[in-house]
Amino acid sequence: MKISFTSAALPEAGVVVVGVLDGRALTPSAVALDDRLGGILRRAMEASRFQGKKDQSLAVVAPGNSRLDRVVLLGMGEGKDLNGAAAEALGGRLHGAVSGNGDKEVTVAVDGVDGCPLSAGELAAHMAVGARLRSYRFDKYRTKEKPEDKPTLTALAFGCEESERAAALYGPLDKVVDGVFLTRNLVSEPSNIIYPETLAAEAKALEALGVEVEVLDVKEMRKLGMGALLGVGQGSARESQLAVMQWHGAGSHKGKGKDKDKKGDKGGKDGSAAAGPIAFVGKGVTFDTGGISIKPSAGMEEMKYDMAGAGTVIGLMKALAGRRAKVNVVGVVGLVENMPSGTAQRPGDIVTSMSGQTIEVINTDAEGRLVLADALWYTQDRFKPRAMIDLATLTGAIVIALGSHHAGVFSNDDALFGRLAGAAAAVGEPVWRMPLGEEYDKAIKSDAADMKNVGNRAAGSITAAQFLQRFVKDTAWAHIDIAGMAWTKETRDVIPKGATGYGVRLLDRLIAEHYEEK
Ligand code: BES
Ligand code: MN
Ligand code: ZN
Repeated sequence: MKISFTSAALPEAGVVVVGVLDGRALTPSAVALDDRLGGILRRAMEASRFQGKKDQSLAVVAPGNSRLDRVVLLGMGEGKDLNGAAAEALGGRLHGAVSGNGDKEVTVAVDGVDGCPLSAGELAAHMAVGARLRSYRFDKYRTKEKPEDKPTLTALAFGCEESERAAALYGPLDKVVDGVFLTRNLVSEPSNIIYPETLAAEAKALEALGVEVEVLDVKEMRKLGMGALLGVGQGSARESQLAVMQWHGAGSHKGKGKDKDKKGDKGGKDGSAAAGPIAFVGKGVTFDTGGISIKPSAGMEEMKYDMAGAGTVIGLMKALAGRRAKVNVVGVVGLVENMPSGTAQRPGDIVTSMSGQTIEVINTDAEGRLVLADALWYTQDRFKPRAMIDLATLTGAIVIALGSHHAGVFSNDDALFGRLAGAAAAVGEPVWRMPLGEEYDKAIKSDAADMKNVGNRAAGSITAAQFLQRFVKDTAWAHIDIAGMAWTKETRDVIPKGATGYGVRLLDRLIAEHYEEK
């Protein structure tokens, strides 16, 4: 779908969308159009339940003497509530209202709104972002889809006085949406197509954007002592991989000040002057059968999205490189397939992680934490990051606790959590803080090894986070459990049903607001 911004006034022909605020308050464009059409917009509103509330829209057929085909009244709710995230949601609903009606091109008139925290240009840019996010489709395997079942919309033009400002604001946001779409594509692909080597190749493809990418194979990981990650992958016919992506947007990591700042700072908690990169670590289990502790077959197909953490990190790197973000970022993804077989790891096996700590594998289905244990350790050890954030579809328990409306965040650093919460609110990708604590850590004590990979049934997401924390030294760290967020069964404002791409916009925003050179 092509998105453009024009300063042209209302079009003479075609389909046009105009905004209406709560209480049937027409925006200036809507007033102008209503006058031109002899008052039919007001009449249509009065003849319907349409109030201009934020989830309402009303399509009005233009009268015979007009060259317009249709006017869509878009409910905007109250002006004061229209922040960036709300404007994106509005754009998403706008796309939902016009994409399947047979129209190819639609013009949207955007005006400044009283009480709205955004200017007309900002409003238009955010609405465009939302519309594009909603336009995503993963239909490459549908060879027999009827044309009448496909969306028809190919071009969306936003008409607004500040069109140049809107276009300038939209430019980098469009790159972020490119990253979201990559994540959605990777997460949507089935596991016969996306497996460790092909997912590593997707990371490698970011070299075209200037990202430095290394891929470690089993031999190299064995040399590093990554027994926890390798144990998970050993039952699969697909070779495990670790992909390491570096975006040097602020110059070299070995830049001035780093060594000086780092000494005595042991990696430095977030907010210190330390100049290490920001690191993102992703769980990339390209299919999770559970291994020998095999999952029930009902719904097991969903476990193709158990690589969503890795998919998010790869999409984020694409977004940052795409918009040439002035920041140094590292992305590390641990890629394995968790299969039962004659070579698979057994319950009771004891593995030695790269950190040297030993783990008794009680349940082979608690595999994500084993992958992350080595990926986190490696990232921290090699890059001495200023902050480290991991993303993982880690536990079913977080879905029980928070459903699919908040990701669970665990952090050893209040400032880092605060920054995440701010970014989450700004982009509409909600997070909820969950606790860490010694009391929970006791649950993963083992008689046979330094720890075991599961607790009892209680507080399953927290004991998983405690396990991860044992592989984090003095680095500011946050763990985001996205098990309930990576996939949606119903269409939302800016997310068609399927892979959500959750986390790309959140973390892009975190970087933009707090870590990027201005
Ligand atoms: N990949 C799953 C968690 C998951 C569940 C992701 C639902 C997405 C949707 C994870 O590897 C897993 O199997 N976790 C187990 C842990 C248990 C064995 C301690 C779980 O949550 O049941
Ligand atoms: Mn599992
Ligand atoms: Zn898993």
